[in-house]
Amino acid sequence: MWSSRKEWRRVERADRSYDEVTCDVLIVGAGGAGLRAAIASFDKGAKTLVVCKSLLGKAHTVMAEGGIAAALGNVDPKDSWQVHFSDTIVEGQYLSNWRMAEIFAKEAIERVFELEEYGALFDRTKEGKISQRAFGAHTYRRLCHIGDRTGLELIRTLQDQVIKRGVPFMDEVALTRVMKDPATGRASAALGVDIKSGKMVLFRLKAIILATGGCGRIYQVTSNSNESTGDGVAMAFAAGAELMDMEMIQFHPTGMIYPAGVRGMLVTEAVRGEGGILTNAAGERFMSKYDPRRMELSARDVVARAIYSEITAGRGTKSGAVYLDITHRGPEYIKKKLPSMYDQFLEFAGIDITKQKMEVAPTVHYQMGGVRVEPETGATSVKGMYAAGEVACGLHGANRLGGNSLSDILVFGRRTGEAAAAEVAGMGTPSVSQADVESEIDRVLAPFSVVGGTNPFFLREEIAENMWKHVGIIRNEEDLSAGLAEVERIRGEASRAMAVGERAYNESWLSCLQVTDMLLGCEAVIRSALERKESRGAHTRSDYPGKEDRWLVNIITIPKDGAIAHEMRPVPQMPPELAALIVKE
Ligand code: FUM
Repeated sequence: MWSSRKEWRRVERADRSYDEVTCDVLIVGAGGAGLRAAIASFDKGAKTLVVCKSLLGKAHTVMAEGGIAAALGNVDPKDSWQVHFSDTIVEGQYLSNWRMAEIFAKEAIERVFELEEYGALFDRTKEGKISQRAFGAHTYRRLCHIGDRTGLELIRTLQDQVIKRGVPFMDEVALTRVMKDPATGRASAALGVDIKSGKMVLFRLKAIILATGGCGRIYQVTSNSNESTGDGVAMAFAAGAELMDMEMIQFHPTGMIYPAGVRGMLVTEAVRGEGGILTNAAGERFMSKYDPRRMELSARDVVARAIYSEITAGRGTKSGAVYLDITHRGPEYIKKKLPSMYDQFLEFAGIDITKQKMEVAPTVHYQMGGVRVEPETGATSVKGMYAAGEVACGLHGANRLGGNSLSDILVFGRRTGEAAAAEVAGMGTPSVSQADVESEIDRVLAPFSVVGGTNPFFLREEIAENMWKHVGIIRNEEDLSAGLAEVERIRGEASRAMAVGERAYNESWLSCLQVTDMLLGCEAVIRSALERKESRGAHTRSDYPGKEDRWLVNIITIPKDGAIAHEMRPVPQMPPELAALIVKE
């Protein structure tokens, strides 16, 4: 098409034009949080638009497979929102925001019934109620489920509601930065790239809701899909928003280990919920050493550390894993309750889980940290900017309970949608500085001007290797400092990252932009991990093995003079009537 390489490079960087789209509330991300926010915002009368980087229906939400946690008490009648609240606070190791946990535990129940009214086909008990299964560290059987495809059903159900209402959406659009009204400091616009055409789009908006998910892809072994690069956190931070608890990265205890192409793929906790047993290479049921009471259904951080310890002590399998066995449940039960796991192991690893043990090892699954939000509304510290779901921080503290993410996205997706719509009602259109737009266009197009630069795909690999090696399940000062130095080195390389090819569907160009965002995520995680000199939940320091009350603080990451600064803020104290509900470990 082009007469020479030089020619296309010139043309690709020369086109600075952009389309303009106007809305009241822009929702970024079409996972469960984004879709639920869209329904709420639209129903409140705001001109709502959803943009997502991937195709509609493809989001990390599907990786919450085993169920949605809500204290319906259908199987264990003693369950209540109060016990769910206590479990969430205790397993979050007291870093959660109490008000978020209260709202969450109460409203999760209505949101599940609403999802059913929207059409979700939950598995049933014999009496015809929504069935609930056991999951790690939930006091009662609490996870409402659709086999092991709960997240998928949740997305499909919400998507139907969004389409039925006629909420407009633009898929395959990657947002790059949020801009603010220079007079008021309010979020007023966002620049994006339409991946299909390579054309830029300027969104003029009155409020923006980030529902972009997490940053799992900064790690080499992860259950997250390619899109989870932490763009939401990076965009929020670049706009001046505070981040919180960034050191808290969840390693799901069970990911696939082979073949190499699927390493890290989730093996749902529902396998253990349905009675799955973990053993080491010597056949020892090792959880008895780590949590004799709860065994395989201990909290995720405990089980992940236990598996890691067995493997590093040389008691793992030849592939560097432990065994997970569900064969005793019988083929009919397994195929009914865990159909995806049955297919997944058969197709990818040639393992029939009704007859053979699985091999599993920890995989990065979730970020508990993220953009700090107000409990009632999901408002961030930037006016007009909201966040919900994995990108937002406050509910899960130092360790998220399995199944709490699906109820989180429904409860707080709805709340942010309603709050944003209410805030913009009757508001005039805020302005955007043309200089800001031009400077963002310069940044976005810069990778086309680099000649003989670095390959962004290699940088992504280096980032992921570095985090896996230096910022893993067990951390220490030396490794974290080495990890930080490596982030700085990669950042130097990233300033010369080069886009090749035409602009439509250009993965190298998008990767150049994502690498910058991923590096911000890495730096925030490592610096916060260096700050927290204790071991709590998912954050384990071999050089600071104890948990201390003086660390009952949230580590806030704040933008300061173009760099990262930290502030320790005591975790807000809960009122006595809620404190009285806490049942200590
Ligand atoms: O194991 C799982 O099914 C994951 C659930 C979750 O992360 O909530």
